[in-house]
Amino acid sequence: MPPNVTKTPHIPQESTRLGLLDVVRIVGGLLLANAFFSWWFTSTPTWGYEGRLTDPRYLQFQIFGSYLNLTMDELSYFDGSDPTKPIYVGINGKLYDVTVSRSVYGPRGSYSAFAGKDAARAFSSGCFRKKDELTYDLRGLDLDEALEDIRGWQDFYANHRRYWFVGHVQHDPLVGDPPTLCETKVKYPFKKGG
Ligand SMILES: *[C@@H]1O[C@H](CO)[C@@H](O)[C@H](O)[C@H]1NC(C)=O
Repeated sequence: MPPNVTKTPHIPQESTRLGLLDVVRIVGGLLLANAFFSWWFTSTPTWGYEGRLTDPRYLQFQIFGSYLNLTMDELSYFDGSDPTKPIYVGINGKLYDVTVSRSVYGPRGSYSAFAGKDAARAFSSGCFRKKDELTYDLRGLDLDEALEDIRGWQDFYANHRRYWFVGHVQHDPLVGDPPTLCETKVKYPFKKGG
């Protein structure tokens, strides 16, 4: 007699692998729940975070954009006088997008003097009410000190939670004399955070 072989019945194996559609459903559900609870607790879809990571213009720049390389003349169009254009602040050849603070850098804003130009000198001297200080001409300043100030401000704008670096501006050659010495030296004319 052959041994009694008990055959295990064939159970059709159910797929335990997640299909793409399941993943999409799960992730979508989590995102929706996240947004819902965020609205519930903070009245924003981002748990109260308001920075460049939720700024569509920043995301678009990061994904599709490329760095600018403007002339001084081109830069002058980005001073906020045209509400459909972004606002750029130049600091010693580097440009930063500050469009989100249109009320501050726009035509009637308290820092409008810095918009659409490269006023590197004023960032060091603090003389931003003296018109001829609003230039990238650093002649006559203590260059080491000026460059250190300027680097500080470049970092400030580059790392700001709502501003970002967008590219460069090509300086026109300097002509004529540098600005006269500024009497009312005020370092850091505006509070960090502005
Ligand atoms: C910007 O353009 C100028 C002239 O077209 C060029 O000489 C310069 O190298 C460019 N700068 C950058 C950072 O791309």
